[in-house]
Amino acid sequence: MTKKVGFVAISNYEVYLKGMRKGLYDKLFFIDKVGTDIQTIVDFGSADGYLSDIMANIFDCKVYGYDIDPKMIETARESYSNPNLIFTDNFADIPEKVDIIYASSLIHEVYSYGSPSSIEKFWIELFEKKPYYVVIRDMIGDATMDRQSDRDDVRKVYRWAKEKHRERYLKEFEVKVGSINNNKNLIHFLLKHSYIDNWDREVRENYFPITLQDLYAVIPNDYDILYEDHNNIVYLTEIWEKEFDIDVKDKTHIKLILKRCKD
Ligand SMILES: C[S@@+](CC[C@H](N)C(=O)[O-])C[C@H]1O[C@@H](n2cnc3c(N)ncnc32)[C@H](O)[C@@H]1O
Repeated sequence: MTKKVGFVAISNYEVYLKGMRKGLYDKLFFIDKVGTDIQTIVDFGSADGYLSDIMANIFDCKVYGYDIDPKMIETARESYSNPNLIFTDNFADIPEKVDIIYASSLIHEVYSYGSPSSIEKFWIELFEKKPYYVVIRDMIGDATMDRQSDRDDVRKVYRWAKEKHRERYLKEFEVKVGSINNNKNLIHFLLKHSYIDNWDREVRENYFPITLQDLYAVIPNDYDILYEDHNNIVYLTEIWEKEFDIDVKDKTHIKLILKRCKD
């Protein structure tokens, strides 16, 4: 099954969707941190709806799963029967009053496949309903990640590629993204090195399109940071340690809850 999202097809939907589920518990970090009177949630970039369904069950509320990929919306509609779930690829279907807008693993896709105007539209849509909470969980690095790599780490990645016969992937990554002599690129490669099944798509995705500082800059003044956890994903750092013998100290993921402080 092949479906276009933006410019690049998802060549293996099953693998793509399975990969997304790996971070399931991490993605649900916010459920015990928001108030209890939640009536409407928007799952922004809902894909096949697996998180929308969990949220509808946990909060017993309406969940709008919104995604630009009609194939994802079709799959979601076919998969879940909870009457509280509404899946749509049209933002105009979202009601005016929204308690939570939830955006998980979305920002990097918006930047990778969107035009400048659709990126601008995304930031407007995220806040325009004045949701009580905006929950973000994504790959985000600090601006200081963009520096010279440790030379030993570079050597270890090249040795890994040779031993595992992955030279072609590393080379293609460096041509499309940039040299792993840059620390941000090196960590970027570690993050995507295993996505061989959808490689043509993954290699083009920019996992770090904005920095944590850029993210702070787009948060409107009427929102406070209720919760912030900028960290690493434990299972990923364990893989990098085991496969590459590299101990990554830079933080790669953000979990953020913004709370509206003014009407
Ligand atoms: C990596 S998946 C994440 C799915 C799910 N939120 C999760 O965390 O597992 C990103 C989804 O965002 C959708 N997407 C990308 N750009 C979008 C946009 N501008 N508006 C709405 N959805 C978008 C894609 O079609 C894809 O289904």
